[in-house]
Amino acid sequence: MSPLFDQHGRPLEYLRLAVTDRCNLRCFYCMPEEGIRYTPRHDLLSYEEMLRLTGLLATLGVRKVRLTGGEPFVRRNLVYFMERLAQLPGIEDLSLTTNGVLTAPHVPALARMGVKAVNLSLDTLDRARFASITRRDELPRVMQTLYALLEAGIQVKINAVVMDGQNIADLIPLADLSRTLPVDVRFIEEMPFNGGSHAAGPASLPWNHVRIRRHLAGHFGELTPLAGSVGATATDYAIAGHQGRVGIIAAYSRTFCGSCNRLRLTAEGGIKTCLYDQGVLDVRALLRGGHDDEQLVAALAAAFRFRAANGFEAEQQRPLHQLSFESMATIGG
Ligand code: GTP
Ligand code: 5AD
Ligand code: SF4
Repeated sequence: MSPLFDQHGRPLEYLRLAVTDRCNLRCFYCMPEEGIRYTPRHDLLSYEEMLRLTGLLATLGVRKVRLTGGEPFVRRNLVYFMERLAQLPGIEDLSLTTNGVLTAPHVPALARMGVKAVNLSLDTLDRARFASITRRDELPRVMQTLYALLEAGIQVKINAVVMDGQNIADLIPLADLSRTLPVDVRFIEEMPFNGGSHAAGPASLPWNHVRIRRHLAGHFGELTPLAGSVGATATDYAIAGHQGRVGIIAAYSRTFCGSCNRLRLTAEGGIKTCLYDQGVLDVRALLRGGHDDEQLVAALAAAFRFRAANGFEAEQQRPLHQLSFESMATIGG
């Protein structure tokens, strides 16, 4: 079957699959202290349902699946589910984005099933600041995960959200990890998906990708841009003498809509064709309403085909009081 393209000529290749909206951290840029209103368990898609949908999406072109959350390892029997996903015909690249708190003991299983790369969220190397950002004192376990992954030969990309007044002093030490260890370190513009009421717009993004780059170059000297893969979120740079790369993800300036090859499936079975849409298809209702494979494929293909060119622009035109501050954990990262 030939891969599916949307009406703007972008192919469907990459599925971001949120296996849960629950999390064992409380990063303040993602959710409030008390957490968010979690989806009741029976409303979450079952592993069987997710396997069926992923298999169908593979027939439409999906080759890469990234598990997200919440925190994927908060969901029971995740490894069992991943082993089955890894065996689906057409899925060539299975990976996950994790906060690393519960991950270390599962690293051998990840290596065995062929996971080649893991993205690890880590915003600071300072224990006190980690506890204040995530509201949990878990830095030691996250570092254990980092070392376990590297020992197992799994490629690691560190995701650090750049927060004005919070972790600016951490950016250089984090980037320096790419010198001392074979890891890529990516700095992400903070987005207003914090599950709360804090309003933000481009004007309130003090650390955009330009400023982050200037800051890094101020310390490391000129950053050499590297050719990126199509559809990638990060612009990667080489630093002389470093084993890994540094990257900048202009998540809020949205410099990469034009090559976006992603589809999102939320934990409660909603299809999102853009980070900023409110869910364009309730695929859980279709599954549980007895739709057969052919009907599901038709609905998924239509959802992707008619997606907007640039969901962020539409979001910007909405009045501030109508903007959503959904948690990143509900969206699936
Ligand atoms: P790779 O497979 O390593 O390229 O991962 P990734 O960058 O697609 O995924 P990851 O889960 O590590 O996400 C890193 C950051 O990019 C997070 O802050 C995501 O929310 C953000 N991100 C991922 N996809 C999109 C997108 O379509 N739009 C925007 N604005 N941000 C995105
Ligand atoms: N802005 C930018 N990135 C965020 N993430 C979570 N919330 C936000 C936000 N408000 C990041 C996490 C994780 C990735 C999936 O999304 O750090 O690495
Ligand atoms: Fe959990 Fe990730 Fe949200 Fe932090 S950013 S609270 S680790 S889902």
